[in-house]
Amino acid sequence: MELPMNAPLMAGLRLNVPPYVKHARLIAWVAEMAALTEAQEVYWCDGSQAEYERLCEELVAKGSFKKLAKRPGSFLACTDPSDVARVEDRTFICSETQEAAGPTNNWMAPAEMRALLQTGQKDGTPALFKGCMKGRTMFVVPFSMGPLGSPIAHIGVELTDSAYVAVNMKLMTRMGRGALDVLGTEGEFVPCMHSVGAPLEAGQQDIAWPCNPTTKYIVHYPETREIWSYGSGYGGNALLGKKCFALRIASTMGREAANGPSGGPGWLAEHMLILGVTGPDGRKRHVAAAFPSACGKTNFAMLIPPAGFEGWKVSTIGDDIAWIKPGADGRLRAINPEAGYFGVAPGTNTHTNPNCMASLERDVIFTNVALTDDGDVWWEGMSDEAPAHLIDWQGQDWMPHDAKVSGRKAAHPNARFTVAATNNPALDADWDSPEGVVIDAFIFGGRRSTTVPLVTQARSWTEGVYMAATMGSETTAAAFGQQGVVRRDPFAMLPFMGYHMGDYFGHWLKMGERLGSKAPAIFCVNWFRKGADGKFVWPGYGDNMRVLAWMLARIDGQVEGHANAFGVSPKYDELNWTGLPFTHAHFETVTHLGLDDWKAELKLHETLFEQIGARLPAALPEVKRAIEQRLGL
Ligand code: OXD
Ligand code: MN
Repeated sequence: MELPMNAPLMAGLRLNVPPYVKHARLIAWVAEMAALTEAQEVYWCDGSQAEYERLCEELVAKGSFKKLAKRPGSFLACTDPSDVARVEDRTFICSETQEAAGPTNNWMAPAEMRALLQTGQKDGTPALFKGCMKGRTMFVVPFSMGPLGSPIAHIGVELTDSAYVAVNMKLMTRMGRGALDVLGTEGEFVPCMHSVGAPLEAGQQDIAWPCNPTTKYIVHYPETREIWSYGSGYGGNALLGKKCFALRIASTMGREAANGPSGGPGWLAEHMLILGVTGPDGRKRHVAAAFPSACGKTNFAMLIPPAGFEGWKVSTIGDDIAWIKPGADGRLRAINPEAGYFGVAPGTNTHTNPNCMASLERDVIFTNVALTDDGDVWWEGMSDEAPAHLIDWQGQDWMPHDAKVSGRKAAHPNARFTVAATNNPALDADWDSPEGVVIDAFIFGGRRSTTVPLVTQARSWTEGVYMAATMGSETTAAAFGQQGVVRRDPFAMLPFMGYHMGDYFGHWLKMGERLGSKAPAIFCVNWFRKGADGKFVWPGYGDNMRVLAWMLARIDGQVEGHANAFGVSPKYDELNWTGLPFTHAHFETVTHLGLDDWKAELKLHETLFEQIGARLPAALPEVKRAIEQRLGL
């Protein structure tokens, strides 16, 4: 194949391919995309620290970053008010058929979407990506999701016109030359095309946060494993290794591997943290836990055991995503495909997550938090008292009085920090291990002020899949839209599924059949029950260790719990209460099963099952019938 290499592509544009890049298909794709987008320049990221620092300095010079005097190597970016969260209603799974995407995803026919984004429409409307990088640099960002060379890892290449994205990708993934080395001359990669959708005309001044305030598309083509994202520069919309690749495309890849010619079991791409927990006897177990966005995954993954748990230690493998595959011994092994944390800042403090606060002391990119007068950051919940004066995330003066009068927040509720995993003092020694860690238990948890008890163990894999599939949660600021509304969020994957939800349940059920006696235990938790006064009853955070220890004791057969309609929950005396004044009455508030609540809840399960339709595995309504019978319904 004739390579365009560094030949002029269009007037004045060179591809600038570094000599170490030998992958003809990659170079040809970069050339094609540079021509489509009419980028002014192409820059290949090598992933070095020097490059990171240079790009950050350039962002400071442009006004996109503010350097934080109080935190070495750290910056603050503030976005356009239209660009503050994932846009679920603008997220599409463009499989060949709508049936393949299923009833829980937005769908558009691939040909129609390609016309809109890439090729132009019949009526002459130009494609959104046509000329969308005019006046901008196109960064070529190669990255590995997972430890370099791991048998569970995969490579992606993001082309982006945002330097903010490039530097975030450096913290969030194994980015740069190492990924290209793994790719070699022929390796497979997932092409991830990204533009903020804000071309610059000749002489036009750029702004601090370019994006397209009115038009956003986050698009996935699962059959061809491509991602196209337009109009947003923020988080999961723009850091395409995260939700787009590591969940939506990877979930499809994992299931296809189960249906492929190898007849293998396939694998799982899950919205789960992974933690290691070591007991006083030195035994270490690993747990993967799924919670919807902004429900405390990062806090749980960095938990510090409270007094009374001397000798216990929790260490972090991942805080958001797990790729999980059966190993040669028939047990599930998990890796964290990411290399950094993109966590929610508000609510984080030295009480809720001391390890996280320690991780944020240096080399952090903050987005949409408030700026203090002495060059530090602040967000709601960071300290009991707010500083007397701040610049809020929208660049306005802010005083505590404002919050009292108008409720105006200093930090956006979905303000984030981006930080490398290596900053975390509780990082697990095996976090980068190519073969991953053996999973002993899965935990599923939603944010529910009522109904769902503190913890319940499923009696079987199928019962566990039912718990996960029917999980509900109150919506949070992580996604655009109304907050605090209970919606079904199966496996905490509702916004992240790459294919039909019913087939996904089936994939999990089949995985359990194959694992047999080697399948991990499954638990369902709810840290968020509220009392009659509207306040959370369970203290959460470090005290979640009490529940975690009970789960491990269950796995070891050391506690018997008591069986209820849904599974097995703890008896009061089976939890270690040292140091926590939590009475029987408190315990009752967070564990009781109200018959009326559950009648209503089971109706909502039924509605979900109706929505999933014919592809719902029969085993799930069977579990529901068994629950109803046990409840005497
Ligand atoms: C995230 C999310 O950013 O789930 O992790 O929204
Ligand atoms: Mn998440």
